Amino acid sequence: MEKRFPCSLFVSLLLAFFFLFSTNSSDALEVGFYSKSCPDVEKIVRKTVLSYYKDDPTITAPLLRLHFHDCFVEGCDGSVLINSTTTNVAEKDAKPNLSLDGFDVIDKAKAELEAKCPGVVSCADIVALAARDAVSLATYVVRSGKWSKNYNMYEVETGRRDGRVSTVSDAINNLPSSFWGIYQLKRSFASKGLNLKDLAVLSAAHTIGNSHCNSFAKRLYNYTGKGDMDPSLLASYATTLKKECTPTDNTTVLEMVPGSSTTFDTTYFKLVKEKKGLFHSDQALLRSQVTKNYVFSHVTNSTGFFHDFGVSMVKMGRNKVLEGKNGEIRKNCAVIN
Ligand code: HEM
Repeated sequence: MEKRFPCSLFVSLLLAFFFLFSTNSSDALEVGFYSKSCPDVEKIVRKTVLSYYKDDPTITAPLLRLHFHDCFVEGCDGSVLINSTTTNVAEKDAKPNLSLDGFDVIDKAKAELEAKCPGVVSCADIVALAARDAVSLATYVVRSGKWSKNYNMYEVETGRRDGRVSTVSDAINNLPSSFWGIYQLKRSFASKGLNLKDLAVLSAAHTIGNSHCNSFAKRLYNYTGKGDMDPSLLASYATTLKKECTPTDNTTVLEMVPGSSTTFDTTYFKLVKEKKGLFHSDQALLRSQVTKNYVFSHVTNSTGFFHDFGVSMVKMGRNKVLEGKNGEIRKNCAVIN
């Protein structure tokens, strides 16, 4: 008895240690991972994003969403970029991913990087950098009218490797639905190492970009199957939306924040507060005290929001990354080596 006790105490301490310190996150990522192996990586990605942005500022939203959809499925490993083959239906072809865009920006940056430092920079890192650059452009450059690298909203950790697995079922099982409530969202985000504050902060990515009618039309016409409307949506706003979207419309696209869908700001919080969030999942933020407080206190606090957004994006970017000798550095982001 006397001998077994210290042993079980040791085991308990060991278990407690693992419980406390085991997360989805990684220690191998670092800011400037490529500083010796490919020192111009950030410059090249920024230049590429900027060249697309100058032609079309709506590029920010798809690039940001790409990083989210990458990180939530198989971790941030570029698996969202992989094309389906004759033997495998990849994440890209899962229904929620059919409206993804911005792949050409990643491919362009990758081609330049492969020319400069072949086999060094992962596609997963390019996605993470491009998301940051795109958001920074939509935040600071829109306001100041000029570009400077000091406008980076946050530092991006790099060192991710590319995954070799991409399946449609993984995407369907891991991407949150726009019809989910707060408990499902909380559980989903927790499984990626993200808490309720991160949920509120990252959901505000919906301050930019567009949505197809079919991502929310059920809320307007047939919420519970009885021809009713989602009560979490402001009735007068539902009437406005009905003029744009018929019940079966799957082609029309609406700005999620009408009139400012290319500016990254706090308007999203104002809309959610007024029950004008486009998705049930947006309005669900009012169903937990933590997320509701965040929404209400950030309607006009853009400085606080930008800071928090950077923190939560870095956290999201650490989800289950491949490092060391795991995975690979893909030559072509759409094809496993
Ligand atoms: C909280 C759970 C989330 C759900 C349920 C969700 C769902 C959706 C849906 C349904 C769309 C519209 C797709 C379409 O119909 O075209 C959308 C768009 C978008 N989402 Fe989310 N999203 C969530 C979180 C996030 C996060 C965490 C980010 C980024 C950090 C993000 C970034 C975006 C962006 C930027 C768009 C606009 C894309 C574009 O205009 O091309 N979303 N989201």
